[in-house]
Amino acid sequence: MSGGNPVVELAKRRGFFLQSAGAYGGVSGFYTFGPQGAALKQNIEDTWRERFTIQEGNMEVDAPTVMPEPVFEASGHLDGFDDMLVECPECGESHRADHIVEDNTDIEEAESLPIEEVEEIVAEYELVCPTCGAGLAGQAIQDFNLMFETNIGPGSSSPGYLRPETAQGIFVEFPQLAEYARNQLPFGVTQIGRAYRNEISPRKSLLRVREFTQAELELFVDPEEDEPDISAVADVEAPFYPASEQEGDDGEITEATVGEVLEEGVVGDPWIAYYLGIAKQWYESIGVDMDRFRFRQHLPGELAHYAADCWDAEAEVDGDWIELAGFAYRGDYDLSKHAEHSDEEFTVFKQYDEPITVERATVDPDMSYLGPEFGGDAAAVADALEVLAERNPDAFDGEDVTVEVDGASYTVPVERAGFAVEEVTESGEHITPHVVEPSLGIDRALYTALDHCYREDEIDGEERTFLQLPPEVAPTTVGVFPLMDRDGLAENAQEVVDDLRAAGLSVTYDDSGAIGRRYRRQDEVGTPFCVTVDYDTLGDGDDPDLEGTVTVRERDTTAQRRVPIDALAETLTELRDG
Ligand code: GAP
Repeated sequence: MSGGNPVVELAKRRGFFLQSAGAYGGVSGFYTFGPQGAALKQNIEDTWRERFTIQEGNMEVDAPTVMPEPVFEASGHLDGFDDMLVECPECGESHRADHIVEDNTDIEEAESLPIEEVEEIVAEYELVCPTCGAGLAGQAIQDFNLMFETNIGPGSSSPGYLRPETAQGIFVEFPQLAEYARNQLPFGVTQIGRAYRNEISPRKSLLRVREFTQAELELFVDPEEDEPDISAVADVEAPFYPASEQEGDDGEITEATVGEVLEEGVVGDPWIAYYLGIAKQWYESIGVDMDRFRFRQHLPGELAHYAADCWDAEAEVDGDWIELAGFAYRGDYDLSKHAEHSDEEFTVFKQYDEPITVERATVDPDMSYLGPEFGGDAAAVADALEVLAERNPDAFDGEDVTVEVDGASYTVPVERAGFAVEEVTESGEHITPHVVEPSLGIDRALYTALDHCYREDEIDGEERTFLQLPPEVAPTTVGVFPLMDRDGLAENAQEVVDDLRAAGLSVTYDDSGAIGRRYRRQDEVGTPFCVTVDYDTLGDGDDPDLEGTVTVRERDTTAQRRVPIDALAETLTELRDG
């Protein structure tokens, strides 16, 4: 996608993004955002924050990108975050085996297949190395862990990893975050930040890189009680491609509203349906073409190790459907794992509406009378009984109970164990919340917006390229030009720049070259409005009524109108905000 792709060429020429460290030959999978790209990225992140954090009433955090090994032991990334690597026997290049299969056969989602099956497909189709063309049949395929490893502090005794998803920075702080939320479910925590994956074969420019930005929301819910109010997005329409339709060749994509897919069970979880609705609106607002957009459910074998269900937002780019975001039901996987591996509680105390009275079983702590037939370890028997009694008082009702002590099994008559049931009042219980996670990649959103907003047309017999980015996210809102750099025009234009900046607009000033060329430069970076200060503005033109006015030219139509300088900031702000 690099050589010859007009979007990538424009991105480099005009300062959106370029492969980083070019002076040293560049390194695959790392990009630097130039001035236009950094502004566009910031604006996209701002709109995400506005929609997913502020409007939803969620909390935002900013966690470190390096985390210690136990975090990733608990999260499962150390063991399960692998891709399939195949090494070419001739040139030694490493490639993703599943990509080679997908690119050269009609098999889709090869990632979800077992390694042995991929090995067989490589042999059966006589697939070759994409770099040198050598045959790959018979090459062993290995699991390759995608995390970048480092050492925390000197020496190697404290391994750490660059986070492969921002989510873990939220999960590990759950006990404290729950406090901030006053233990009230549901509550959501968002984070926008860098994530790192040592991708085997970075490709397609920004779409698969080794360092990227994620915007994630972790919503903690009580699975038994919490339901979203989906009314705000019930009428949002989108194409939905459920897993059940993806098996054969003639699978159908359903055009439906969020309300309908939820009612018909196409999307099982109401929270996921809710966020699909919000996400569709958000992608549209940043310039993704809704005719090249869909939601696709993961096939069972495709699910990440933590997910019970997952829908992706996908966009068509250069003839391929690429994943923009995942909407996963992570259940209690993450919080339970961190509870298991740490000394903290990862629960919330759920208060009952009314206190309830329950029967609680207790055992006599002095079990010494149980005698030698219980292995002489009365204390262990007592512990085991206590656990059993807590869990299931009914099991003791007049029955013998069997307990395991150090692998041996003992049957204890209830009356000899000093068992008793008493009534206690409980005001609530500790529960492990479930997690619903919309996880959006900012780089992929940015690239897709550029690709979908790229336009070529002809103005007055001259070809032009322009980016039809929504004004809200365009890197610059207004370009201000003096018609010429003389007769006080430039000074006047500078004053206009100052006024517009003071009003909070993002403005660029340009006085070099013919005015037509300056328009084209702004068109190419997607600036939606240009303002020209001319002799009429100064009162030195043909029409004295135009004194104190400027020309405002719109990018998409190239239509121009005169606007009084006094009303300029307000007019442009209104135009930007639609
Ligand atoms: N916390 C869930 C999670 O990380 P994911 O599907 O692995 O889920 C979420 O990643 C999003 O992050 C993807 O949909 C994609 O937009 C982005 N992403 C993942 N890997 C990427 C890569 N190598 N380059 C660019 N973006 C990537």
